[in-house]
Amino acid sequence: MGKTCLVTGCAGFIGSHLTQTLLDEGHFVVGVDNFASGYAHNMDGFINHEQFAFYEKSITEPGLLAALKKLHPELDAVFQLAAVVSVPYSVEHPGLTMRVNFEANRDMLDAARKMGISRFVFAGSAAEYGEEGRLPVKEEYADKVEQLSPYGVAKYKSSAYIAESGYGCSLRFFNIFGPRQDPSSQYSGVISRFVDFGLAGKRMVIFGDGEQTRDFLYVSDVVTSYLLAAGLDGQGRGPLTGIYNIGTGNGRSVRELAIVIADLTSAPQEIDFRAERAGDIKHSRADVSKITAEGFRAEFSFEDGLACTVEWARNSQP
Ligand SMILES: NC(=O)c1ccc[n+]([C@@H]2O[C@H](COP(=O)([O-])OP(=O)(O)OC[C@H]3O[C@@H](n4cnc5c(N)ncnc54)[C@H](O)[C@@H]3O)[C@@H](O)[C@H]2O)c1
Repeated sequence: MGKTCLVTGCAGFIGSHLTQTLLDEGHFVVGVDNFASGYAHNMDGFINHEQFAFYEKSITEPGLLAALKKLHPELDAVFQLAAVVSVPYSVEHPGLTMRVNFEANRDMLDAARKMGISRFVFAGSAAEYGEEGRLPVKEEYADKVEQLSPYGVAKYKSSAYIAESGYGCSLRFFNIFGPRQDPSSQYSGVISRFVDFGLAGKRMVIFGDGEQTRDFLYVSDVVTSYLLAAGLDGQGRGPLTGIYNIGTGNGRSVRELAIVIADLTSAPQEIDFRAERAGDIKHSRADVSKITAEGFRAEFSFEDGLACTVEWARNSQP
């Protein structure tokens, strides 16, 4: 039976993919976004869907969940993706970041629990691990580090609040990529830039030696993890409680990334190396044993995910 699900941040990169899948699987989606970083065109595929209702609102609005529950009494799942997503912006606006990325989440969680909503999933982040040097990164490491930005602090406080409450879960995503990703994203913006170089027939530009590694996860696998976390994967798994890393468990270097994208776009294979940028973390990779034990496994290979992303970018060119 289809559920009624709230997706905040439904006009964003990940939220639009999650919304589309929930609709495809027969659920009703209540979408909320204030377009702080999302775009109306990301919702083109579903804005007129009869099982979709959109509200242009901020998650900081007091009583938002109660108002939505009144309009949609069947509401039984909350996917809280809306957030201040830019780390530099969070440094310039720490107060707003705390309000959106922690306080609004805390209030939404408390309200959802009181209303008896049975599924609550929050978008955590690898930024909660600060400069953690041990690899792969385990969930508990975040409790002993200092996060490097208001973004990381607020995400960490939200995840910790969820864990303490024993209600709902936080999925700590590593570097997500795929169609509709924001080219300025600190997570996977490098992919958009390489695809742009490639499609323009230019050489890839890498800052540093290119040996810095990240745990890149294709967006369809992120959606799979959301369905599992909410107990909506159709296989009887979940809903989950607590904190879970979501990644592949494999680190891929920026140099590998450049080579695969150059290949997919028939761009020159020679790379233009430039001086390393200050503040870049050298390596990041998730320990995924906790979510693996719940039955999650990334299905898309790095190469297949990149091929889909390049295809999308090629078709989206003016
Ligand atoms: N992209 C990644 O690699 C990555 C990694 C870790 C965590 N995350 C988290 O996943 C979530 C989704 O990220 P994304 O990459 O899709 O970013 P995105 O910017 O594309 O999506 C975020 C959406 O939230 C909306 N939003 C922002 N503030 C809002 C508010 N106050 N009220 C209502 N809507 C608001 C934005 O307009 C946007 O549509 C975020 O919480 C982000 O922190 C993303």
